[in-house]
Amino acid sequence: MDHSKIISGFSKLNKNQKLGLISRYSENPDQALNDLKSFWHSNADMQKMLDEFSENTLTNYFFPYGVAPNVMINGKVYIVPMVIEESSVIAAASNGAKYWAGKGGFHSEVLSVTKLGQVHFIWKGDFNRLKSLFPELRKLLLARSAPLTANMEKRGGGVLDMELVDKTDVLDNYYQLSVKFDTRDSMGANFINSCLEEYAAGIKSFVNESGLFEGEPLQVIMSILSNYTPECLVKTWVECDVSEFSDIDKSLKAEDFVWKFEKAVQIANVDTHRAATHNKGIFNGIDAVALATGNDFRAIEACGHAWAARTGKYKSLTEVKVENGKFHYSLTLPLAIGTVGGLTSLHPMAKFSLELLGNPQAPELMQIASAVGLANNFGAIKSLTTKGIQIGHMKMHLLNVLNSFNAADYEKLLAVEYFKNHKVSYSGVSGFLASIRNGN
Ligand code: MEV
Repeated sequence: MDHSKIISGFSKLNKNQKLGLISRYSENPDQALNDLKSFWHSNADMQKMLDEFSENTLTNYFFPYGVAPNVMINGKVYIVPMVIEESSVIAAASNGAKYWAGKGGFHSEVLSVTKLGQVHFIWKGDFNRLKSLFPELRKLLLARSAPLTANMEKRGGGVLDMELVDKTDVLDNYYQLSVKFDTRDSMGANFINSCLEEYAAGIKSFVNESGLFEGEPLQVIMSILSNYTPECLVKTWVECDVSEFSDIDKSLKAEDFVWKFEKAVQIANVDTHRAATHNKGIFNGIDAVALATGNDFRAIEACGHAWAARTGKYKSLTEVKVENGKFHYSLTLPLAIGTVGGLTSLHPMAKFSLELLGNPQAPELMQIASAVGLANNFGAIKSLTTKGIQIGHMKMHLLNVLNSFNAADYEKLLAVEYFKNHKVSYSGVSGFLASIRNGN
């Protein structure tokens, strides 16, 4: 076993000590140290705040911050900020947004905003008796969380409901306290978890210390929000006459395009391999908006994929309907995102993003993120079923390929011109650069 890289007490070192130590793991420590420091923010206070978002921070990791303009949702037009490293995502979102803006834009409706948390416990006691005493227990629990919920209640949110759930059919002696919350414009993770830890302590003392129950003590296993929020749901759709697709591709009639499009979505419903890729394209857009607005994209993805598998089979998150010459394409998914709390106002770029969007409330941001997801997905299916994805993808990727060959600015200009009419590939770019460099 190799213990040579085990470091004790790393978190106790100061930032310079951490940098010094870590850069020594690189082939050229002095160069690594300079490189890492070169990404520090020039404003020391800002850098300190960025450092404090996380632990063991050495430097910053830059990603491109861009926008998709012309995102029309329910008649209102947004310039949507997106943070993503994949070269074609913002281009696809922007194209999709512009395309649909000319056809009435996106339509979107928030169906519900409820979040959920659970206290998981194991107990061999009399569950029916606990259930019969639940009204009393519930009052005690709500009293325990009152100091935590007071502010949220002022904002119109708080605890919506709580119930005891018998899960002994899936695991011996397993029960839950399941609690529903309205966290208003915050994603609400900290609020929910704090309430749940109060409830866990409350149930334990009610069962184990009140003298009301006999036998082995109730054991709380854990108290945590659920990132699966099927009741925090947004539906976004586009619609038009099938005949409006007559100009979508030179080689396809409108009906043929729609037929292929429908088949592509049906395939994503019956084949898990395709469904994962189909849905990944949706999260290209949603995650980019989540990152730009300081939201937790891991929570969003976990929830979206769980929702995609809610029938027991992992399927497409989008649905297509073609009826009486009308095309209707929708995306329905749970999106637990916030516009207050967390990094939303602390991270200067997240704050700017929300300003750019007109400081929306959380439901409006759900609509915006899902519209961008739908724009990305529509763009992907359109390309896949017509000219293929690589033409556009590699065109967007061209600058990355050129950079990987250390192309000079003038070489990039020539290459961009040349590859307007040629297929982009690593070998093609390499050959093109060699021909310039050899003066051919
Ligand atoms: C690439 O990031 C996303 C796509 O693969 C999505 C899809 O295939 O639908 C193009």
